[in-house]
Amino acid sequence: MTTAKRKLDHIRICLDRGVEGGWQPFEDVALVHRALPEIDAAEIDSRCRFLGKELAFPFMITGMTGGHPETKEINVNLALAAQEVGVAMGVGSQRAALENSEVEETFSAVRDAAPTIPIIGNIGAVQLVREGPEVIDRLAEMIEADAVAVHLNFLQESVQPEGETEARGAMAAIRAASDGRVPIIAKETGAGICREDALALLEAGVEVIDVAGMGGTSWSGVEAYRAEERGDGESAVMGRLFWSWGVPTPVSVVECASAGAEVISSGGVRSGIDVAKSIALGARLGGAALPFLRPATEGSSEVVGALRAYERAFRTAMFLTASRDLSALESAPFIVVGRTREILEERGFDSKKLSIYREMSR
Ligand code: FNR
Repeated sequence: MTTAKRKLDHIRICLDRGVEGGWQPFEDVALVHRALPEIDAAEIDSRCRFLGKELAFPFMITGMTGGHPETKEINVNLALAAQEVGVAMGVGSQRAALENSEVEETFSAVRDAAPTIPIIGNIGAVQLVREGPEVIDRLAEMIEADAVAVHLNFLQESVQPEGETEARGAMAAIRAASDGRVPIIAKETGAGICREDALALLEAGVEVIDVAGMGGTSWSGVEAYRAEERGDGESAVMGRLFWSWGVPTPVSVVECASAGAEVISSGGVRSGIDVAKSIALGARLGGAALPFLRPATEGSSEVVGALRAYERAFRTAMFLTASRDLSALESAPFIVVGRTREILEERGFDSKKLSIYREMSR
């Protein structure tokens, strides 16, 4: 099966089937409500800088697509909306354009539609090993990218028979690529990144990590549906078994931020409140993919509507935590309960020290 055809299958399944599920770890995190914020909502400044450019609020649409003629419109709608609202955007894996230069324009159209926002390129770690570090510059030039994400999706690869599970050498390839013209973002795709891997990535020269943790789109789940469709019962069982495998997103944010990475919090970030929780947990940016897929099949104004809903909820969460700007939100007190708290504690983090203690010790 061609890369481009597989990508269309992924989009169809993500649109038509329930690909989330499991549990939602952001429900275990709550920002402490302030009844007397003592600021006016209108004076809240939610702007930030990312990759040297200003964003209206700390958010990005993470990489989904490109590579098949039918995906160009989705990318253009996402790009027009991201440009209008002032957020960053990633493209999907550019592998298909390396295999067939005719589909390059399904990616380059993004930069034409969004001239001034941060655009992030995308390639899988296994392809990076095969192509060599020079490929990063080529991918960046294709879309005038501000950074290129190297995606780590070994869970998804493991549950499909044609999966590429040659993980050896990926870290060396990332290290070699991190000396290039544009920054590398290490990115999972729904199973999260732990502190051990974050420390190794930082040591290899990566500064930005998109955790893409467990709690949102399950790529193991997507592959389970694909396996069912082609009558491959064994792979379908595998896909369902590993549906909720991985590091829950809020945990992954704490793990990677504690290692010193600049963190993008994604994987189940389903509202501006989840973005605000992410910033308080230590992330620089929140990000999401799936919630923008259906609007992008409809039109750019539908994507703008979805982004504005995130922005409004984010600014409201800032107001209700008395956070006039992002540095105030970064130190806003929060609580962590339930399974997420247990995981953090088992991993050696004191969730109390993460919240009020932190404020008292300032
Ligand atoms: C993705 N994602 C993805 N990631 C990546 O690095 N390269 C890619 O080509 C794709 N393709 C892709 C297609 C579609 C249809 C979706 C929904 C997602 C993964 C995405 O960027 C993100 O990491 C995960 O989906 C988790 O975030 P959400 O969807 O839970 O917000």
